[in-house]
Amino acid sequence: MSKLIKLLTGGADSEDPLSIEDYTKTGGFSALKKAAVTKNEDIIAEVKKAKLLGRGGAAYPAGSKWEHLFHIQETPRYIVCNADEGEPGTFKDRFIMDRMPLKLLEGIIIAGFVFRAKAGYIYVRGEYRKIQKRLLETIENVKASGFLGRNILGSGFDFDIHVISGAGAYVCGENSALLNSTEGKVGRPRIKPPHLAEVGLFLKPTLVNNVESFTNIPLIVHMGGEAFLQAGHSESGGTKLVCLSGHSRNRGVYEIPLGKVTLRDLIYDPEIGGGLAADKKLKFFHLGGQSGTIGSIDQLDTVYSYTDLKKAGLSVGSGAVVVMDESVSILEYLIGVTEFFIHESCGKCIPCREGNRQLHQFLKKLSVPDAATVEDLNTLRRLIRTMCDSSFCGLGQTAAAALKSAWNHFKTEIEANVRAGGMK
Ligand SMILES: Cc1cc2nc3c(=O)[nH]c(=O)nc-3n(C[C@H](O)[C@H](O)[C@H](O)COP(=O)(O)O)c2cc1C
Ligand code: SF4
Repeated sequence: MSKLIKLLTGGADSEDPLSIEDYTKTGGFSALKKAAVTKNEDIIAEVKKAKLLGRGGAAYPAGSKWEHLFHIQETPRYIVCNADEGEPGTFKDRFIMDRMPLKLLEGIIIAGFVFRAKAGYIYVRGEYRKIQKRLLETIENVKASGFLGRNILGSGFDFDIHVISGAGAYVCGENSALLNSTEGKVGRPRIKPPHLAEVGLFLKPTLVNNVESFTNIPLIVHMGGEAFLQAGHSESGGTKLVCLSGHSRNRGVYEIPLGKVTLRDLIYDPEIGGGLAADKKLKFFHLGGQSGTIGSIDQLDTVYSYTDLKKAGLSVGSGAVVVMDESVSILEYLIGVTEFFIHESCGKCIPCREGNRQLHQFLKKLSVPDAATVEDLNTLRRLIRTMCDSSFCGLGQTAAAALKSAWNHFKTEIEANVRAGGMK
């Protein structure tokens, strides 16, 4: 039996993903029509029942976020879609925007209705130029059909969606940096609290959700929160788009039901990863992007769900699954990860700006025979703790997650070059 499912991606193989006619023929915009005549509280209740966890990486419950914003009286309110997709190995939001942009827009418009928002913004990764054009074209089509713009569906509600281009900074995917960048300011994170639901875009109440999160909304409105929950895991409803890359034989985006597929299925099932290219052996896999965790072959039977992965010390994160074969040196891989974070640190705080450089230096030292001492290992452990505990934003807090998790599985390899006899 197939381990794959087409709950969210049903319609993604449409010949013309921008055609409103094709989309409405297959039930498109019926959720919006339903939402337009449903009490806003009831829609939020369904999102809560669905247990939709934010698909951008942090896995925050969407229902709680929506409820929080709903209770804030101040206006105007804004809806912001995070399409920055900066996490290496992640390309599922691009897939959605390319193959099913209408479903994404429907989700954003439903959110607009629920919060009677003034406007919506989609902040798209700077490198996705073609996608930006595609979204602009789709928005115009939707407006011409009366589902967006003035007096949507004759309801008296006006709502427009704007596309903003990022400029290639990973940190701008962090939601408060993203809002600063949208406002035309330097894309650096803000101090929190205040929460963005209270003081968000232009200092007004704002909802920020990921592309995949918004795209699930029409589904939840259409099928109901309970059915959505049943389709996934008891603690996190629905499906997840995973991105297989690296040495996987079948690289690509796959939709799987949460809680019903193991990591082994993901990597080896002929319909999904199909094993490793060149018939090499698996060494490790990196889940959730560069800020995510590294797992080894003895964790292959872990079920892919937020709960099960967390119990195993792993993470769903962005949905990236980077598969690495036996030819890869774990130290070289980790050095590459720290180089990414050195490049992407915005430099605002010391634990991240300097910490990433020091991580890099320690890893370089560990790759030279007899250069590092046991004392270095202790300092490295303290450095990781300091970065996690005192970096200003999630970038610095998670920059050492790969090293920390890899150290559990590849202790012998990581410490192989440490000078015998300890300190010197
Ligand atoms: C450094 C950093 C980069 C991030 N990049 C992204 C990103 O590219 N896309 C995304 O959706 N969320 C990203 N996030 C998470 C967002 O801050 C936020 O949690 C997310 O947009 C909320 O939407 P969700 O609840 O629907 O996941 C990033 C977080 C950090 C700390
Ligand atoms: S943790 Fe890194 S990215 Fe975040 S504010 Fe500090 S320096 Fe900037």
